[in-house]
Amino acid sequence: MNSVPTHFFECIECHRQYKPAQVYFCPKCGNLLQINYEYDRLRRRFETSLGEAGPLSVWRYHALLPVPDRGRVTLGEGGTPVPKSTRLADSLGFSGVYFKNEGQNPTGSFKDRGMTVAMTRAVQIGAKGVLCASTGNTSASMAAYAARAGLRATVLIPRGKIAKGKLVQAVAHGAKIRQVSGNFDKALTRARRLAATGGLYLVNSLNPYRLEGQKTLAFEVWEQLSRVPDVVILPVGNAGNISAIWKGFCELKWLGLTRRSPRMVGVQADGAAPIATAYTKGADVAPWPHPETVATAIRIGAPASWKKALRAVRDSGGTMLTVSDREILQAQRLLASKEGIFAEPASSASLAGLLKASRSSLISRRDCIVCVITGHGLKDQAAVETSTVK
Ligand code: F0G
Repeated sequence: MNSVPTHFFECIECHRQYKPAQVYFCPKCGNLLQINYEYDRLRRRFETSLGEAGPLSVWRYHALLPVPDRGRVTLGEGGTPVPKSTRLADSLGFSGVYFKNEGQNPTGSFKDRGMTVAMTRAVQIGAKGVLCASTGNTSASMAAYAARAGLRATVLIPRGKIAKGKLVQAVAHGAKIRQVSGNFDKALTRARRLAATGGLYLVNSLNPYRLEGQKTLAFEVWEQLSRVPDVVILPVGNAGNISAIWKGFCELKWLGLTRRSPRMVGVQADGAAPIATAYTKGADVAPWPHPETVATAIRIGAPASWKKALRAVRDSGGTMLTVSDREILQAQRLLASKEGIFAEPASSASLAGLLKASRSSLISRRDCIVCVITGHGLKDQAAVETSTVK
């Protein structure tokens, strides 16, 4: 059995370090915490784990995951394919565009990468139940992993604003559903309060264990392409994923395994773009009270991890873009009809972002580009029916 690597919580702002505990914010300055390791001691161990036989998966990278093997709650997450674009890349004149298809995770989204780690942590600390606020995918994922772990699951969702397929998943897996009047931001505020008073373990991306699982996408892409890409493009909502993936690429560098890191390009919908707006203004994020977009997964006005996301984009030399709902739905059709990949609207924002960037000098035609396809199209059938089926 592998031991858990030595790790600690570190404030992203004041860098104070703490012993891992059930807290999400720095007790001193109130900023988010992240999990760090003693990297200089871990290179050999990580390399040994890479030498182990077996398929790609989140747990292949156990040497850089902060939970034990015992009690691991897994459904076989990670190891998703990264097909090279042929038709779309040719028509755009790009030489290396790849789609990292996270829709092929057990519950159909990237959330499973983080949930397997967060749920394992929940079991480890003896949690009686788990809780999240969600625009749909987190709740579907949490419900499935809670079922697997035998834990009570409570999800808070914005009433009438999540795709039906995702709601059906949470119901099927036996989660208790609480609908909140208002948007995701209100649901998250309520979930945080409930977690503090009700003794439930919060598994939103504020939870640094979740993000540790999600960072493995970076390790996987590096192994699958035998290189670090030049550019990674992905949709941004609550901003956990872009932060996690960036951390994964940074860790490869900190371990001395790579020299380069990708430019991180975050994409938001025109109607829900607090981070992109802040990026353009060079300012802090000001919450948007009424975010609106067809891409309900990223319909978020007060993203929890905005500081981490802005850092990822700035430190990597990347950028934040916005795309319209029309561009998102057009990209969804292109992905499905020209590449055989059915992505939900939020996930199609990656391609919409690439199409937009391709008309500028942000990205070179020779770049190796990975578009992260965050969730499966079957989750939100109505988006296709209402936009294309007459
Ligand atoms: N793509 C999809 C399909 C998502 O479900 C989400 C977030 C994102 C992108 C954005 O990721 O929040 O880490 O920036 N969905 C969350 C949820 C908010 O509740 O399912 P992020």
